[in-house]
Amino acid sequence: MDRPADASAASRAQHAAWMRRALDLAARGRPTVSPNPMVGCVLVRDGSIVGEGWHERAGGPHAEVVALEAAGEAAAGAVAYVTLEPCTHTGRTGPCTKALLAAGVSQVVIAAEDPSPVAGGGAEVLRAADVLVVTGVLAEEARAQNAVFFHRLESGRPFVIAKVAVSLDGRIAAGDGTSQWLTGPAARQRAHALRAEVDAVAVGSGTVLADDPVLTCRLPGYSGSQPLRVVLDSRHRTPSDARVLDASAPTVLFVAADPGDGGAAGVIGELRAVERCAIPEAADGSGVDLERLLDALADRAIGSLLVEGGSAVLGSFLRADLVDRLVVHVAPVLLGERGRPLLVGPWASSLADAPRFDTLGVEQVGPDVIITLSPDREER
Ligand SMILES: NC(=O)c1ccc[n+]([C@@H]2O[C@H](COP(=O)([O-])OP(=O)(O)OC[C@H]3O[C@@H](n4cnc5c(N)ncnc54)[C@H](OP(=O)(O)O)[C@@H]3O)[C@@H](O)[C@H]2O)c1
Repeated sequence: MDRPADASAASRAQHAAWMRRALDLAARGRPTVSPNPMVGCVLVRDGSIVGEGWHERAGGPHAEVVALEAAGEAAAGAVAYVTLEPCTHTGRTGPCTKALLAAGVSQVVIAAEDPSPVAGGGAEVLRAADVLVVTGVLAEEARAQNAVFFHRLESGRPFVIAKVAVSLDGRIAAGDGTSQWLTGPAARQRAHALRAEVDAVAVGSGTVLADDPVLTCRLPGYSGSQPLRVVLDSRHRTPSDARVLDASAPTVLFVAADPGDGGAAGVIGELRAVERCAIPEAADGSGVDLERLLDALADRAIGSLLVEGGSAVLGSFLRADLVDRLVVHVAPVLLGERGRPLLVGPWASSLADAPRFDTLGVEQVGPDVIITLSPDREER
């Protein structure tokens, strides 16, 4: 429990101000930190910052350790603001609780608790060592910042982001199937930035046949790791010379398993990192079973999946309520009724049954508008 002295509105407001700084620092790890969470830490003594840091990549030093090193002896008696509960386990780096105790901090203020059965429990360890601990400061912001991390830990499945480019009238391709490019270069750069943030990118075989996408992050100067490329290809329609099978990143083709086959896997490219994985078909006959697909990706340590279409695959993910974030790039162009709709397949026939979303952000990027949404699951 929080100690009464720290529950006052004034100290909460002060804590919140330092925690905001820690959250800003944590965000610097966004492009590099996956599969680990973003974490920021600020050490404050006598009203001034004496050290700060953030977690940059898995295997690298944790935010607390970076901040403690920056502070040196000034860490003794300081208040540590940490966006995620300090870890208690020895992974590739030592436990942060131990480092904080060794440095002699007087108080630890935590935004979000760590639900991980391995690393969690840091607040208890610190309290047991007689360190004053305050939890829940800007907890909502901290959980939102690490939505992917919390989702993966709590559900055991990857966080699914669906990104789609649409015309003003909600079409994803013209009547002749062309969709390259609906949006301008600035919005397309943002799409590439999203690929850099996720562990895997998925399309259906229809998009491979129509657009022959490469699905890698090709931001100028980008040298980070490429996402795993995933193709939903129940009927083995991906051509052997498809660009998604090139050597620039590994690819898994998910094909339909024969009835009774639990899900055989095999490598189909001798020189290329291409794998074929068989999983059962969806009961509605739409293609591969998406829950089994997500489980198979979780088995491959995929924590986040970007679904880039097309309309059949998007429709299946949305109908199954498996989309955790929807990113819609709206281009100022009209394609008319012959254009391909955003979704195909059966859908709600009445407004009362239509799934609703919360709007998280709206941004103009060049001539286009990017809308970021999350499903309003309380309404469902
Ligand atoms: N504007 C955009 O953002 C955007 C993005 C992507 C694509 N597009 C456009 O979309 C069009 C292609 O759309 P599409 O609907 O044909 O392609 P799609 O959704 O990429 O692929 C559909 C195919 O995926 C396979 N599939 C496997 N499992 C599935 C499942 N559970 N649910 C649904 N499909 C599954 C099925 O083929 P099998 O039976 O062979 O497995 C299905 O026919 C093209 O015109 C392309 O240019 C636009």
